[in-house]
Amino acid sequence: MDCNFFDYLPTSHMASSFFLLLFLSFSLVCSHVSAKHSMTWTYGINYGRIADNLPAPESVVTLLKAAKVNHIRIYDADHGVLTAFNGSGIEIIVGLPNGYLKEMSTGEDRAMNWVKENVQAFLPGTQIQGIAVGNEILGGSDMELWEVLLPAAKNIYGAVYRLGLKEIVQVSSPHSEAVFAISYPPSACIFKPDVVPFMKPILQLFSQIGSPFYINSYLFLAYKNDPQHIDINYALFKDNRGIYDAKTKLHYDNMFEAQVDAAYSALEKAGFNKMEVIVSETSWASRGDPDEAGATVKNARTYNRHLRKRLTKKKGTPLRPKIPVRAYVFAFLDQPLRETLVKPDGSIAYDIGFTGLVPSSAPPPSFKDIAAQGWLIWSYSLLFMACSVVLQQGLGL
Ligand SMILES: *[C@@H]1O[C@H](CO)[C@@H](O)[C@H](O)[C@H]1NC(C)=O
Repeated sequence: MDCNFFDYLPTSHMASSFFLLLFLSFSLVCSHVSAKHSMTWTYGINYGRIADNLPAPESVVTLLKAAKVNHIRIYDADHGVLTAFNGSGIEIIVGLPNGYLKEMSTGEDRAMNWVKENVQAFLPGTQIQGIAVGNEILGGSDMELWEVLLPAAKNIYGAVYRLGLKEIVQVSSPHSEAVFAISYPPSACIFKPDVVPFMKPILQLFSQIGSPFYINSYLFLAYKNDPQHIDINYALFKDNRGIYDAKTKLHYDNMFEAQVDAAYSALEKAGFNKMEVIVSETSWASRGDPDEAGATVKNARTYNRHLRKRLTKKKGTPLRPKIPVRAYVFAFLDQPLRETLVKPDGSIAYDIGFTGLVPSSAPPPSFKDIAAQGWLIWSYSLLFMACSVVLQQGLGL
C-alpha cells in the first residue's frame, strides 16, 4: 500500500518537527487498515427519517436490536438519533449532506467544527464508524459539486485525522451506477470518461486512507432499461441460466453479484485493485409506471428476501471470492410483513412504541419516489419493513 499521504493533510496545521511523528503513526495505520475492517458483518440497513408518523429514534434502536441489525447508515447527523444510539452497540455511518459540500471544501475550520459537533461529540458511546461525504455526486447533474467533492472529503478527513479518530471513523462517498459507462459483462465495466478526472483523485485519497468504495446499486434501473434481455429471475436471485463472462471465465447466477464485480472491475482498470466495494444502498421498486416492467410488491419482497439470504452467507463474489459482500439495504413496506410484529393472539411481539404506523392503505413506494426524493418520505417505512423481514425470519413466523 502506498502511504504517500501528505498531499492530503492541510499543511498549514503541520509544524515540520511534527512531520516524522505523523509519518510514523500513519505507516502504522496503513499496516492496520486491512485488519481493522475485516470483522465480518454483511447486512446493514438504511435509516432515513423524513416521513409522517416517525417513531422516536429510541424505538428504532429497539427494533434494530430485536432484528439483530448492527450496522446502519443515516443520511445526516441528526443529534436526536445519534443520542438515541448511545450505548446501543450499533455501528453507524453518518452523512454529510450534499448541501454542505461547498462550505466544507473551502473551510478546513468548518470541516473541523462539523466533525467535532456531529461525530466526536457522540463518541465513543455512539459508534460512529464512518462519514459518507455527499451522496451520488459524480455522474449527477450538478457539475459544481463534482469539483468540490474532493476538497470537501480531504478537509473532512483532515479533521478526522487531527482529532485522532482515523482508526475509528472511515471517510468515503457513495456513488451511483451513473459513474459507470459499461457494466455488462462485469469485466467490461469502466468509469465514464467525463467522471474519470474527478474519480481518480478521490480513489487515490480513499486508497491511501484505507476507505472502501461505496456504490448505490439499484438493479431495477438496469432491468427496467432492458427487460427483453435481462431475465428477471437473474435479477431476483431465482433459478436461471445466469451469465458467463468470457474474459474472466466466471459464471454469475445473479445480477447483484455481477454489479458488485463490475465495480471491482472498473476499480481495477483505474488502478485500484485492492479497494473493497461496499453496497451503500440497494432495493427493488415495488410500484412503478406502466412502462416499468417488474416493479411489483412481490418482486420487491423476493429481491429483499433473497438478498438477505445471500448476504448472511458472508460469501465473496466470483471475482473477489475472499471478500464477503456487505450491503446496506432498503426494504419495502407491505401489509403481510408488517403484521409479523404482531403475534397470532393479537399481542405485539415487540412493543416498539409505535402508535402511528403508516396506514395500511398507503401505497408502497415506486422507484421514482426513491430515485428522486422519495427515500426521504418512505425510508422510515422501508426501515420498518427491513426489520420486519429480519424479525420474521428470526422468529420463524
Ligand atoms: C452516552 O452515554 C454515556 C453513559 O450513559 C454517558 O456518560 C455519555 O455522556 C453519553 N454521551 C452522550 C453524547 O450523550
